[in-house]
Amino acid sequence: MNPKYIYNVIVAAGSGSRFGASLPKQFCILEDRPVLMHTIENMQKALPGSHIILVLNPDFFEYWDEICRKYGFYSPKIVAGGNNRWQSVKNAISQIPHDAEIITIHDGARPIVDKAMVCRVINALDNGFGAIPVVPITDSLRQLNKSGSMPVNRELYRAVQTPQAFHASKLREAYTLPYDSSFTDDASVMSAAGYDDLLIVDGDSYNIKITHPLDIEIASIYLRYK
Ligand code: C5P
Repeated sequence: MNPKYIYNVIVAAGSGSRFGASLPKQFCILEDRPVLMHTIENMQKALPGSHIILVLNPDFFEYWDEICRKYGFYSPKIVAGGNNRWQSVKNAISQIPHDAEIITIHDGARPIVDKAMVCRVINALDNGFGAIPVVPITDSLRQLNKSGSMPVNRELYRAVQTPQAFHASKLREAYTLPYDSSFTDDASVMSAAGYDDLLIVDGDSYNIKITHPLDIEIASIYLRYK
């Protein structure tokens, strides 16, 4: 696949309300610079020659500009985010040229994104129109019900990560559906559009999504280890 037809959307327009800091988690400092700069750089390294589109909340456009100057960081093209992840991705897709063949979507809050894993996801697209990285569940699982909860077989479940990659035409079509609150990622949007047989590839347990303040400490250990 010629990388010039691959467009990588990095969604970073969330407020990070679970993180509980004054700045959204994607701007917090991880080792030497903000989380988001690691994410962008690692995606660039994973797929050299491909395009990156960064989705930010317009309230942070000026701040991003400021920190890019401070860290001497060259920003990719920026698109304004929406009120939820789905809207942010939709806005980005609307800015992607029509000659795009593959669109990947990656959470800005996952800075430890690894080249080998990204290549597994992209290469899987030779055999299908969508590929997603997953990892096994290590905790035991219970399903909540009216009378309490019941155990479920964790072997039947996987945790889903990003980047997720899709043939551009299929993703564009899925994103014409109206919003549903069950859309927590792009695979769920594709499933709602009837594209259920997405290819599952091995994710990476280091590819954590920064969610709580302690995750920054964990990510810095992972960064040094990688
Ligand atoms: O909230 P959650 O951690 O699931 O968000 C996943 C990713 O989606 C984050 O990188 C976040 O910045 C992004 N997002 C976005 N626009 C929103 C909400 C979340 O780009 N309105």
